Amino acid sequence: MSLADDLTNDTTKEMWGGRFTEPVDEFVKAFTASVTFDARMYRQDIAGSKAHARMLAKVGVLTAEECERIVKGLDDILFDIERGDFAWSVDLEDVHMNIEARLTERIGEAGKKLHTGRSRNDQVATDMRLYLRDEIDGLTGQIRAVQKALVELAEREADTILPGFTHLQVAQPISFGHHMLAWFEMLDRDHDRLLDCRKRVNVMPLGSAALAGTSYPLDRAYTAELLGFERPSRNSLDAVSDRDFIIEFLSAASLIMVHLSRMAEELILWSSAQFGFVDLPDRFCTGSSIMPQKKNPDVPELVRGKSGRVVGALVSLLMLMKSQPLAYNKDNQEDKEPLFDAVDTLKGSLRAFADMLPHLIVDRARMRAAALRGFSTATDLADYLVRKGLPFRDAHEVVGKAVRFGVETGRDLSEMSLDELQRFDARIEADVFEVLTLEGSVAARDIEGGTAPNQVRRQVAAARARLGF
Ligand code: ARG
Repeated sequence: MSLADDLTNDTTKEMWGGRFTEPVDEFVKAFTASVTFDARMYRQDIAGSKAHARMLAKVGVLTAEECERIVKGLDDILFDIERGDFAWSVDLEDVHMNIEARLTERIGEAGKKLHTGRSRNDQVATDMRLYLRDEIDGLTGQIRAVQKALVELAEREADTILPGFTHLQVAQPISFGHHMLAWFEMLDRDHDRLLDCRKRVNVMPLGSAALAGTSYPLDRAYTAELLGFERPSRNSLDAVSDRDFIIEFLSAASLIMVHLSRMAEELILWSSAQFGFVDLPDRFCTGSSIMPQKKNPDVPELVRGKSGRVVGALVSLLMLMKSQPLAYNKDNQEDKEPLFDAVDTLKGSLRAFADMLPHLIVDRARMRAAALRGFSTATDLADYLVRKGLPFRDAHEVVGKAVRFGVETGRDLSEMSLDELQRFDARIEADVFEVLTLEGSVAARDIEGGTAPNQVRRQVAAARARLGF
C-alpha cells in the first residue's frame, strides 16, 4: 500500500483519526457508539457548548466574532433537531461529536475552536448533570401533583372509616383520609430526597477537561453561572469520572417506585371483589378476552411491576461504578440507558397516579362493613376497662375472652348485649357502646398524627398551607 492510499483511507473521517492507521471495525463502531440513546441530551449539549464558547470569548481564547458564529450555529442546529431535520450519524459516535461536526460543517473554521479547553469527558459529565437537573425539576412537580390529589381525597374522605390492618389482619378502624395522608407523607420525603440530590447534581465539571484540568485560562465560575450551576467542581479527576450523582438519584427514584408500588398494591387489593373498597374508573382498567366479568387493574399492576426496572437501574449503576479506576472510563457510557429508562418509568408512573387518584370511586359502605368485622374495636374495649381501673394487661386478657366468645357466636363486640359483656367484667356499663362504635374508636385517637377525623383535617390544612394547594 502506498503512502497515498494510506492517506486516503477513511480514518480521517473520525475526529480523532490522526494517530490511527486503519479504520474502526464496523461492528466496533456500532458497539461503541452511543448516539442512538445519548441524542436525547442534545439540548443540554448545546446549552453547555454555548456557555463554553461565551466563556472562551470572555477570557480571550475566541474572538467575539467567532463566539457569535458558534452560538448562532448552535442555535440553528437546535432548531434543526427540534423540527426533525438533523441526520444523526453512528459514524460520529455520540451526541457531542454529531453536533460539533455539524457546527463545523455549517460555520467552518470557528467551529473547530469550540472544543478548546474541553474534552468529551467533562462535556458528557456536564450534559448528564444538566439533563438530570431538568428531569428532577419536572419530577418534583409531578410528585406534588400526586400529593395534591391525595390531600383532596383525604379531605373528602376524612370521616370515611375502613379497617386498618397490621399483618393484613384487621387491627383498628381508621379514617380513609388518614390512609391517604400516609401515602402523602411517603411522597413528601421522596420529594425532599430529590431536592437534596439536586444540590449535588448541580455542580459543573467543565474545565476538568479530559481528567487533569486544562492549561487555558478558563473562567469556570462564569461558565457555571451561565449554566445555572451552583459552583464548579473542585477536583477534575472526580468530576469526569464519578457518577454517584446518578446513583443517588436512582436510589431516590427507587424509593419513589417502591412507594408507588405499595400504593398500587393496595389499590389492587381494594378493587378486588373480596375487598370492594374502591373502584377504578374503567379507563384505567382492561377486560379479559375470555372471562367477561373481569375488570383488571392494569395501571396499578404495571406501576407495581415497573418498580423493578428502576431498582434494576440502580443496581446497574452501582455495578457500573464499582472497581473503576480513576479517572474516566468508557464504562461510564453505560450510565445513560438505565438512567433514561428510570426517568421515563418514573414520569409515566407518577402521571398514572396523578390521573387516577382524583377519580377513585370510594365505597364507604363496603369499608364500613369490613371495619365492623374482625373485632377492630377490641383495643377500645381494653382502653375502656383501663379507664375503669383495670391494669392494661388484665384488660387485654378480659377482651381476649370476649373476642373468643364473639368468634364462637359469630358476632362483633358491638353486637353483644350489655349482659353478655358484663360476664367478662362487671365494670362494663352501658356507656361501653360509645367506644365500641367505629366513630367512637376513630374519634378517640385524637392525638397529633392520629386517625381522628379532626386530626386528619388538621393535617390536610397544614399540607395545604405548606404546599400552597
Ligand atoms: N459517549 C461518551 C460517554 O457517554 C462520551 C465521552 C467519551 N469520552 C471518551 N474519551 N471516549 O461517556
